[in-house]
Amino acid sequence: MKLWGGRFEKKTSGLVDDFHSSITFDQRLAHQDIAGSIAHATMLGEQGIIPQADAEAIVAGLRAIDEDISAGRVQFELDAEDIHMNVEKLLTERIGEAGKRLHTGRSRNDQVALDCRMYVKEAAKEAAALMRELCETLLSVARAHTETIMPGYTHLQRAQPITLGHHMMAYFQMFTRDMQRMKETCAHADVMPLGSGALAGTTYPLDRERVAELLGFSSITLNSLDGVADRDFVLDYLYAASACMMHLSRFCEELILWNSHEFRFVEMDDGYATGSSIMPQKKNPDVAELIRGKTGRVYGDLTGLLTTLKGLPLAYNKDMQEDKEALFDARDTLVKSLVVFNAMLASCTFRTENMERGAAGGFTNATDAADYLVKKGMPFRDAHAVIGHLVLHCVKENKAILDLSLEELKTFSPLFEQDVYEACSMRACVTLRDVPGGPSPRRVLESIAAGEAWLQSFTI
Ligand code: ARG
Repeated sequence: MKLWGGRFEKKTSGLVDDFHSSITFDQRLAHQDIAGSIAHATMLGEQGIIPQADAEAIVAGLRAIDEDISAGRVQFELDAEDIHMNVEKLLTERIGEAGKRLHTGRSRNDQVALDCRMYVKEAAKEAAALMRELCETLLSVARAHTETIMPGYTHLQRAQPITLGHHMMAYFQMFTRDMQRMKETCAHADVMPLGSGALAGTTYPLDRERVAELLGFSSITLNSLDGVADRDFVLDYLYAASACMMHLSRFCEELILWNSHEFRFVEMDDGYATGSSIMPQKKNPDVAELIRGKTGRVYGDLTGLLTTLKGLPLAYNKDMQEDKEALFDARDTLVKSLVVFNAMLASCTFRTENMERGAAGGFTNATDAADYLVKKGMPFRDAHAVIGHLVLHCVKENKAILDLSLEELKTFSPLFEQDVYEACSMRACVTLRDVPGGPSPRRVLESIAAGEAWLQSFTI
């Protein structure tokens, strides 16, 4: 018989049991569910709402169940619907009457909200820790390449020279914002909903603050309807995960391009590439492609849950059970992607000579050539036009700007002098971009130092 079977005359259809049971996936919440119940029972005992001896029996029984679940000794029942009722049923089977007092002053609605909040807090911390590891890898690649010149792009056209270190530090900034988003997610989840009951609180003198304290929550929810109906904190996690996947995906896209024969900026380690069943020469960047592909699935988890929630009247509706698979799927995908990406990046070999050649070959010093004329007194707009003509000439001749002799350069502007060759060298182009946040080696070293300090001070 179901735990709620009293009001029913007929059995639930087997079709429905199979359809609405969530135990196949929400058993992941077993540990959170038991911890929540232990805190609830402890408080019930302390408040004299249930006999102290019963509270103690419940706590001991739950601890034993937790151990048995961890050791794989528990068979969950589809018939008991979800993790909450499976645990309660097991408890009562094991300790008898006292077990039936556990659910006093509580509903599965506030119980599941609590479990999800605990899960999200842990998942956000786990994600931030993995992002921190990735940031450490980025710092070490950046440190090794503050002088490695490469072309920077806009519209995927070579634009201005930067360094590989600068490029890596761009991603570093993105992942630190992802860490920050996980921290905010954790803060939003860190509010204790038990005591909201089914929707309208409870008549028992619960000590909600005590439960929050026992479970390590910073505060309690302030409206019982909101306490059971809110899943914003799951959306926060899904958005933070989506943003991080988007960053990983852009990075993967670059590695895929850089690994192509057309770029040859990077050599993927054999361990992170795969071959073709027919083309013997192939070494494909499948891992990077798969992370890029899985990004779509995490976005799907986010848009799926947003859509599930958008039409729901207050307070709890069964639709909300759909939050879990989205959350678990996003968490698994994000964790696996971060772990494999970090290892893949750490094992990449950068072909620095090709990067430097790429920077020299694509007129990436054209802005600097214009700036050179500006420094000799020409207005920028005129200098832009002069260099435009110069580049057109070079394109036709298949030459770089500095391949031209000084006499040839002077036919475009008499302001050109011998010092143009030094002023517009790739190294000067990078070194002179010395604004805060710029690519000059000095500034990149500065941003690496600031990044190290930020990582050190980051807590979640
Ligand atoms: N398995 C349910 C969920 O995940 C638990 C809450 C059920 N509450 C209810 N009133 N049916 O949402």
